[in-house]
This record gives sequence, structure tokens and C-alpha cells, in this order.
Amino acid sequence: VPDDWTNLARRLPGVGRREALERNLREAICAGRLPAGTRLPASRALARELGLARGTVVEAYQQLVAEGHLLARRGSGTTVAAARAHPTPAAPPPPPAAPAPRISFHPGVGDLAGFPRALWLRALRRVLADAPPEVLGYGDPAGRPELRAALAAHLALARGMVTSPELVVPCAGFSHALALLARALRAQGARRIALEDPCIPLHREIVQAAGLAAVPLPVDERGARTELLPELRVDAAVVTPAHQFPLGATLAPERRAALVEWAQAHGRLVIEDDYDAELRYDRQPVGAVQGLEPERVATAGTVSKTLAPGLRLGWLALPPGLKSAVLAMRAREDRHLNALDQLVLAELLASGGLERHLRRLRARYGARRERLVAMLAERAPHVRVRGISAGLHAVLEVPDEDALVEAGARRGIELFGLRRFWHAEPRGPGALVLGYGAPPEHAFAAALAALGDLLDQPA
Ligand SMILES: Cc1ncc(COP(=O)(O)O)c(C=O)c1O
Repeated sequence: VPDDWTNLARRLPGVGRREALERNLREAICAGRLPAGTRLPASRALARELGLARGTVVEAYQQLVAEGHLLARRGSGTTVAAARAHPTPAAPPPPPAAPAPRISFHPGVGDLAGFPRALWLRALRRVLADAPPEVLGYGDPAGRPELRAALAAHLALARGMVTSPELVVPCAGFSHALALLARALRAQGARRIALEDPCIPLHREIVQAAGLAAVPLPVDERGARTELLPELRVDAAVVTPAHQFPLGATLAPERRAALVEWAQAHGRLVIEDDYDAELRYDRQPVGAVQGLEPERVATAGTVSKTLAPGLRLGWLALPPGLKSAVLAMRAREDRHLNALDQLVLAELLASGGLERHLRRLRARYGARRERLVAMLAERAPHVRVRGISAGLHAVLEVPDEDALVEAGARRGIELFGLRRFWHAEPRGPGALVLGYGAPPEHAFAAALAALGDLLDQPA
């Protein structure tokens, strides 16, 4: 037995001698110090050398044979098994991340510091106190009945939707709903799907990943140009009728009519993204298009703006014809959302807690919107503001969006240019898509002042 085998007897804190031998051997094999094919000493010889009982060595060998590190063949003793693919060498450490911006105007998130923790916690306590054990078992892919009933009632009341608990499926936000619908459509033979231009690039990627071509649907100040849909030869269209993202228009009545007519006349599907309709400031929210044609419109909503995107909570109101395809996919994939989250949302809807929270949000964000408009009028009167009737973002038309985004980054202000949202070439003037909901409440005044300085003296 060569000298260095004695290392195998190294004692390790907190474990017995057999376990230490096993770990030392395993480590020597994985590190390549005992290469494939190495013949191990006979157990009796090694035991003698290391001052161990023979049974200890035999057990350690057997364990490593069972794990595939060693091979035991009658007549040829115990050898190190053929090397598996060596673990790839550790990647060089990533370059130090750029410092986080001091101020973010991310258009996709609200004030995360303002998340209603106490409200959520109270609802969770009630849910945990009352839920029977079966809630913690595998559930129905269609979701918790309590949540489906609460959502169907809420969507009828708040969004004018025509649906029922059987057709409402809780899912992980709009993007999840879109992925489910795109794959269901593709499985039914669809090839092309229209998305507004501009829109969120992720939504284009989601439909493309499902094997569909993403066809741009132009948008103007009256919303998506739905009168063009017949000539685009698409199987479905994804639209944001309540508040176009990112340009901010509400879909004009004749465009809503054209959308529904197209879906009816050609047997097509409308996918309605109802992402921020509950945050409307100038008047009552415009009802969902789904209410006009429940057979041909699938509407998905989310709590990403009203509670927090990290919850990954949303819902999908399905036309009857798509229900079984979507539920079959759920059953094979994530099965359903976390049951406790579903029950907490159901509780918040049924108790009125969510509605009270929404009223507070509308007041808080409505005030921010007014302060933004006032700041711009005073400090940057050349900047035109659009799309500000709802939601948490405004579109600021600026002469050079790229220069402003860069100048902002140099000062620790995260800004988003409109450029990233076009399918290909910009179809309109440069702009910032400014998420005025993102800064924490206590920092909003400073964030607004910093933005004013930037627009005042961008250099
Ligand atoms: C247009 C649009 N749709 C949907 C969402 C929300 O997506 P999700 O529910 O997947 O978080 C957002 C959030 O930023 C959005 O801007």
C-alpha cells in the first residue's frame, strides 16, 4: 500500500472512521487524485495499513460501489470507475455588477416598499387558521374554487366581464396566461399572432417560443389599429385595450368594435391584456372587451401592478372552447398555483380588503401623476406627456431618448427609452416610458427633482 493511501485514514470532525474513509476516498476520486482504472488495495491490506477493522473498509468500498465511484469485479478486485465527464472548470467570476441605480423609473413595477404587508399577513393568518388539511394536498389544475368564485364576481363587477367560476383559471401573471394560450393555439394549428407595435418584448418572445410568428399591429393615439387585422392574416391578436402598453391610449370605441367584428367574422381569438385597468384616474375604468364577446376573447389580469409582481399571481378568463386545452397543459406542468396564495387572494377579494387597498393606491399614484405633470410643466415645458390616464407610467416625448437614458445612467437614474418596445424600427418619435410608480413614497420628491434636473440640463 503506497504511502499516500494513509491520507485516506484522515479523521474528519463529527463523523466516524468508516464515514471519514468513505468521504476521503470519494473526494480523492472526484478530484482526480485516484484516476479511473486505479486499483484499490484489497480491503484486508488497506485495513491493516490504516489501522482499521476490515469490515470498515469493506463497508466504505461497498458504499462507493453503490454510488458508481468504484467497480468491484470478481477476480480483478476493486477499481476506480471510468471517469464521468469532469465538472466544467469554474467559470471566471463575473465582472463586478454595475452599481444599482439610486433611482429607478422602471415602468413595470409599482412602489414595492408600499406593498400592504399587514393586509396580506392578516389574510394569510385567517387562511391558515381556517383551511382544512386537504388544501395542502395536490389540487385541481383549474385552481381553488374559492378564488375562482371570488374572481368571477370581481371581474363581472369591476371589469364588466361575462364569465363564470368554471372559466376563470388562476395563473402566474399575464405572461404565464399568454404562454398557455399561445401553446394551446399552436396545438390547434395557429401559425401567426398579432401583437401591438410597440409592446413588451417579452410577450413577443413568449409567442415565438410557442412556435408562432409575431406580427406587428400598429398603434396610434386611438390605440391598436384593429381595422388592419383582416389584412394581417393572423389567428389571434394580443391587445391592451384599457391602457395600451407602452403608449397609453385607451382603445377607441370604433376600434373595439372592429376588433370584435374581426374575431367573430373570422373565428379568431382576442387575447386581452388587462394588466393595469384597475388603476384609472380620470374616470371609471373602461370595461373589458371580453364583456362584448365572451366566446372569442380570453382576458388575463395580474396583481403585478396592484400588489407586487413577485407574487406571480394573476388570472385567465377563458372562452369555453379553450378551457380543456389550457387545463390539460396545467395538469402536465405546474399543476396549479400555491394554494395558500390563491386563498389569500380570494380572502382579499371577498373581504373587500383588496378594494380598499386599490382605493388607497389610486389616491397615492394619482397624486404622483399630478406632481409629475406639474414638475414637467414647470421644468421641461418642451416635453409632451402622453398616456397618463391610467396605470403607473407616462410617455414623455423627448428629442433624444438615447442621450437621456445614458445621461440618467451616469447620474444613477434608471430610465427606459421607448426604443426597446418597438418590434423593429421605431414608428414614432423618441420617448421615455417613465414608471412614476416605482420610487418608494419617501423618495418620490427627490426622484422627481432629479428627473427635472436631467430634463433641464441633460448633458
Ligand atoms: C403590458 C403589460 N402586460 C402585463 C404586465 C404584467 O405581467 P405579469 O402579470 O406577467 O407580471 C405588465 C407589467 O409590467 C405590462 O406592462
